[in-house]
This record gives sequence, C-alpha cells and structure tokens, in this order.
Amino acid sequence: MLTLPDRPRSLWLAGPRPGHPPWDASAGERFDVVVIGAGIVGLTTAALLAERGATVAVLEARYVGAGTTGYTTAKVSVLHGAKYHRLEQRHGPERTAAYAAANAAGLDWIAERLARAAVPVERRDAVTYTTQASTAGLLTREAEALGRAGVTAHVTADTDLPFPVAAAVRVPDQFQFDPVPHLHRLADEVIAAGGSVHEGTRVLSVRGGTVTTDRGRLAAGRVVVATGLPVLDRGLYFARAEPHRSYALALRIGERPPAGMYLSVDSPTRSLRTASDPDGEYLLVGGNGHKTGHDHPTSRHVADLLAWSVRHFPVQEVAYRWSAQDYATIDLLPYVGPLLPHSDRVFTATGFDKWGMTNGTAAALVLADLCTGTENPWADVFSPARRPPISAAAPFARHNAEAAFRLAVDWIRPRPSSPPALSEGEGRLVRCGIRPCGVSRTDGTERTVSAVCTHLGGVVQWNDAERSWDCPLHGSRFGPDGAVLQAPAVRPLSATKGTRPMAIVTAADVRDLLGSAEPGATLVLLAGETHVVAGADLTADRLAGAVVVADRDQLRETANLDVDHPSADALRELAERLDAAVAHLGG
Ligand code: FES
Repeated sequence: MLTLPDRPRSLWLAGPRPGHPPWDASAGERFDVVVIGAGIVGLTTAALLAERGATVAVLEARYVGAGTTGYTTAKVSVLHGAKYHRLEQRHGPERTAAYAAANAAGLDWIAERLARAAVPVERRDAVTYTTQASTAGLLTREAEALGRAGVTAHVTADTDLPFPVAAAVRVPDQFQFDPVPHLHRLADEVIAAGGSVHEGTRVLSVRGGTVTTDRGRLAAGRVVVATGLPVLDRGLYFARAEPHRSYALALRIGERPPAGMYLSVDSPTRSLRTASDPDGEYLLVGGNGHKTGHDHPTSRHVADLLAWSVRHFPVQEVAYRWSAQDYATIDLLPYVGPLLPHSDRVFTATGFDKWGMTNGTAAALVLADLCTGTENPWADVFSPARRPPISAAAPFARHNAEAAFRLAVDWIRPRPSSPPALSEGEGRLVRCGIRPCGVSRTDGTERTVSAVCTHLGGVVQWNDAERSWDCPLHGSRFGPDGAVLQAPAVRPLSATKGTRPMAIVTAADVRDLLGSAEPGATLVLLAGETHVVAGADLTADRLAGAVVVADRDQLRETANLDVDHPSADALRELAERLDAAVAHLGG
C-alpha cells in the first residue's frame, strides 16, 4: 500500500545546506546593489554584479531557494511546453526568436557554471508530447515556430514513455540538474567577491535608496527585487501576472525510468524527469497545476498525480512530495527590467511561467547589464513597460475581474462563528465578529489567525496539501501561524481581534483615517458609495461589489499620495480614481 509523505518536502532541499546569517549593520550599511530574494534570479544577478566589482548584499526573507527555485523540477531547456507558437501569434517571429536566444544564453550560462564547478551536466532531450490525436497538429505548429526561432526541433511519436503518444516535439541536448547546490555555489561566488548573503531578513519597503528590513535599514545605489511577484507593489505586477501552484512527486519505481525530460500538453499536464541521490534513482512526476488559492481541497491534486503515476509505472515508494509556485504574465513574456518605467534604481523580474531556470538566468543577465548601464539585446523584449499586444487585454480584464469577484464573494460568504472540531492538517474559515478568520490544526496545535491577506485584503483559503493559507487574489501564502511564506505580502496575517468598522464619507474623514491607521491597514472602497473602511471590517449588507485598492504604503507609492499630509484635492482625486477602479473591475 503506497502512502504519501505526511509533509511536503522538496528533494532538492532535503539534505543539509549551508546557512547565512541575517543582516546586521556589521555586514555593511551601504551597497552598490541590494538584491532581494535568494533564488536563481537574485543569486545569479548578485554573482554577475559581484564579478563586475559591485558591492552586493543579498537579502532573503527565509532561506536560499525558499521561493520557487528550491521547488522547481529544474529542467534546463529552451523547449517550453507548447509556448513558441503562442508567443509568435502574440509578439511576432522576431521577439519569439529573442525569447529563444535569451533562454539559450541562460542554458549556456548554467552549463558553463556547472563545468567550472566540475559538476557533470546531465544532458537530456526535452520532449513535449500529447496522447491525443486531436492535439498532434498543435505540436507540429510548435516545432515550426521553434524552427523559425532558431531552435532545432523534431516532430516524432517515438519516445521511451510506457504509453503511446500521438505526437511529440523533441529538442536535443538540453539538461537537468539539482538547482540548490547551484544556488549555494552562486552565493559562495558573491561572498568570495566581497559581497554578502543574508537569510532570515525580510524586506518591508524600499524608498529612494533606503531598503527597510525587519532587521534594520541599508542604503543601496540600486535594488533588484527578485521575489517571484515583487514584494513592492509599484508597477501593479500583481494585476498583470497570475500565480499558479503545481505539484511534484519523487518516486522509486521498479524499473529504469524514461531518460528524457517530458512534458505533456494534455490536461492535466504531466512532467517527467529523473533525479538521483546516494540512495538511488528517482522518477520525478509533476503536474496538476492550478491558480493559487483556488481548486480546494489541494490534496486531491497530489492524489491524482500519484494515481496517474501508479497507472503507468511500477511505483514502489513515494519518497518526496512538494509544490512550486510561479507566475504567468498576461502576454506570455516575462517582465524583466525597471520596476517602474524610466526608473534606473529599482529593477525586477517575474513571470517565467514555470520555465524559471533558463528564463531566470536570462533575466539575471539582463538585470546585471541594466544595473551597470550595459547594453543588453533582450532588455526591450522583456521590458515591464512594453506595450502589451491587444490580445493581452482579455486575460488582463479576466484576471482582475476574477480577483475583484473573489474578493467580494469571499467577504460576504456565510460562515460559522464557532470553530468546528478539526482533524490534524485541517483548516476552516470562520467568522470572528464580522471578519473572516482561519482556524487550523497542525502538529497538534490549533491556531486562529485573521483570514484577511495583508497584501490587499483577499480572504485566504486553506491549502491542505501544504498546510498553508493561500490568497486567491495574487498568490501570497502564509503559514498556519500567519507567517509570510510567499510574496507579494510582506506582513504576517494579523491577530484575530478585529478593529471596529469605520465608514468614511468625507475627505476629512479619509484624512483622519490615514493619519490614524496602522501601517498595513487595509482600505476598501465600497462600490457606488466611496466608503473607505479601515482594518477591513465589513458587514455583508454594505458590501455590494467591493475592490480592495491599497494599503497605506501602497497609497503612498502607487497613488503618489502624501498619506501624512494629504491635501483635499489629492483626496478628492483619489476618491475619483477609486470609483473608476470599481466601475472598471466590479462592473
Ligand atoms: Fe494580493 Fe492577497 S495576494 S490580496
């Protein structure tokens, strides 16, 4: 009888790994570049900049690889499912070829670093396949688009999978690896070049050249935000990229696993590769992706992945199970460049759509050039300020309308006021007064936290596969105790005692609210009434289609509002903008 591991644990993060001290002033207070996030983008950028002589500090809220990189399937490939023909339709052949070239450069860069460290490169063919005859034509179109983008690809139906496929696209000479030692070698490079890497240091804000963390402040000439979705809300990336979670299993099977790196385009997707540790070889099976905070209970996705694996392979043991989060942009290309248009101080990268090894390394090559004023051939293609194609308008509207809808519905959904009896690993939403709270039981401890996401007020949902509270709006994740696991939120879920409802109808009242609100308090606009509510306490009958617009910091940053001394004109303009936002999003 096969059993799933009780807890998610990534194969890549299972072994011992070096630690890095939290930042303190003795590590330096002024740096040419501060990099936020110690995943593949952050550490590659930091290593490149340190190599060029910059003084660099890397700040990581949790631990190296804690974001997406430690949980990826770590295929290093320019073949990205069936993406190229869609890229070509939206952006044309020239930009698609630039995407291919950037990813090939990312692949080569990692291979060179592995060679430098005398780590054998596990070369494999990358294969996208379908078992549906009706989808075979799509893969032919994909191979043609790959060819036009300069990638050698072959259409075939010949694979070493234990089931027939209708068609496949094969790109030879790609590779797979363990991403976590790669991250630690990059961290070593940064430190050897005079930089520093700090774990357990959460960045709360960046203003001008000052980076404020939960451990103090640093001065930075430039800042690179490499946190998946940026922890800073400037640029509204959360409105332009959609978070997805997907699942992975490391299986012992009673036969030699397929050698290639496979991905199906059928639904749900299936991803395969091999991996090994001193105990032997694993087959990694991934897939069952869905929008973060949706599709509950999440444990059924893990169960489905295992059921599929058992149908096709003689599975003997599930050694590890884990999940990863990544972001898909509305126009398919990653965002890499200045956080805000024309800024030359704060840069970011996100939206790799589950292809973060090559895309993330390519992004680092771009970011390092931007930070040092060097021309880069892909900077324009990936620029976050690019004008999206017309075809991106529908995904943008759908993503944001869904977020607004979920927000409204989740706030008014009826819930019991007393916590139910919970089994181990279970979590439920309840009503604490008039606000939603989350009650969970993990490790025998029952905890109650506010269920109001500290990013923009979404109502978090229990993820039973990973025992976390996940926000369905923009993908922030929190532990059972409310601690932040995943950006864009930077503050933990708050204590459960709610503030009193406060309806504000005049500019003076708004001014008073802004003056007295705690940092991070959420402001909510109620459609048609221009009410603003502090602390996100709402009654159901007043919530007629709401959208959370901003917290205090975000008002300062995105609405350019002097929150400490707002003028009447600025407040009036803000109210008009909020009304327009509700009219647009809430319909
Ligand atoms: Fe944006 Fe929760 S992540 S509201």
